Amino acid sequence: MRTVTLPAPDDFDAWRDAARPLAAAEVPPGDVVWQVGDDAVDLFAGNAADRAPIPSATGGLTVPRPFIDLARNVVASNDPERFSLLYTLLTRLRAEPRLIEDRADPLVRRLDTLAKNVRRDIHKMRAFLRFREVEDDQGARYVAWFEPEHHIVRANASFFVNRFASMRWSILTPELSLHWDGQSLSEGPGATRADAPDGDPTEAVWKTYYASIFNPARVKIGAMLKEMPRKYWKNMPETALVPQLIATAQARESSMIETARAADTGSNSAAAWAALREEALSCTRCHLYKHATQTVFGEGPVDAQLMFVGEQPGDQEDLAGHPFVGPAGQVFNRALATADIDRSRVYVTNAVKHFKYELRGKRRIHAKPGAGEIEACRWWIEQEQMLVRPEISVALGATAARSLFGRVLAIGRERGQALTLPDGGGALVTVHPSYLLRLQDKAQAEDEFGRFVADLKMAKGLIAA
Ligand code: URA
Repeated sequence: MRTVTLPAPDDFDAWRDAARPLAAAEVPPGDVVWQVGDDAVDLFAGNAADRAPIPSATGGLTVPRPFIDLARNVVASNDPERFSLLYTLLTRLRAEPRLIEDRADPLVRRLDTLAKNVRRDIHKMRAFLRFREVEDDQGARYVAWFEPEHHIVRANASFFVNRFASMRWSILTPELSLHWDGQSLSEGPGATRADAPDGDPTEAVWKTYYASIFNPARVKIGAMLKEMPRKYWKNMPETALVPQLIATAQARESSMIETARAADTGSNSAAAWAALREEALSCTRCHLYKHATQTVFGEGPVDAQLMFVGEQPGDQEDLAGHPFVGPAGQVFNRALATADIDRSRVYVTNAVKHFKYELRGKRRIHAKPGAGEIEACRWWIEQEQMLVRPEISVALGATAARSLFGRVLAIGRERGQALTLPDGGGALVTVHPSYLLRLQDKAQAEDEFGRFVADLKMAKGLIAA
């Protein structure tokens, strides 16, 4: 029997470093006991014969990439059997290299479910964590309390660093705490709810915002509870209002119906959209605001069924303050018209809200936004998505796809088909209109324009009639 003691419950590298030589030496899964740091108990104390050495050579063991991706997530699960289940799959992969693709295999299915639960928990932490502002001797500091279900705090650290790079913050959880001082990240021990501050003035902002986006006509309590489990509610200032809002939802809905429901729905969400846009105008989440003229926020009806997401404002958009009004916007408008989509009925926005450019003489030349800039700006897209709740979001090009899906997508392969966003919303990806502008060959340009229009028609076809 071999016992492997991992230093932390989410330590994928330590698991991999131990698992690979064991698998290469063909040690059967039943002969390995996996333990974690402080929880470890010496099962074989006093019985040295039971402690076979852990091999160190990996014997040229190669592991398919999808297994690594799966294992990284699974290791963060709270299932005590996760390490041994992964090890079992690893050993089986030697004889069945394509096993990982077999979704009918019970072990693969079980591990897939664990990975999915971890991904969902990662998403929840991103969506539901709320900072409270406190003052210390260096000024404002933001502190949040969060109770994840799985061991996902380290996996989420870089997300919060990127998103809140310019703030000093601490995230307290029962297992560990993270501290960002604007330069470096450090870890501390776990905390309790009482260690986190309770209320502060920033909550008023959230509450107003949330009350205004809370649309009683759309209350689906089951869905809400699923997406925002009660356990998180107490940490989110805006959700203090939820029971009250739900309780009055029926009455509010009736009154809305009586007082011209459509108009009321519109004005409620429109107010929230205006508040959001207002906030975005002073966005400093990344450095791009320093050289751009202004934030170019999304535009369109807040109850639009289709949302189009571009890359970032171009030179003309930056000056005008509106998305897709320059040359790419004209191609986009022509394609929309050909696909019989009324631009005034769709919501149009960008993954990045500030113009990124390089100066060449007096000319401002478009520069592609980097991963950090896309990530920093995802906050706004997520808010727009929450507010508009489009049936279908259309990513125009790779930057938009990356922002909406949170990962890189091969546009050529994925374009023109129904996809699902990580939050469950419908989506479709296609090329960016500026790609069409760059095509020199006339025939090719016409062909590609036709394909673009076909993708737009497909998106239109995906929305409920
Ligand atoms: N390109 C984009 O991606 N968005 C705009 O708003 C304009 C050009």
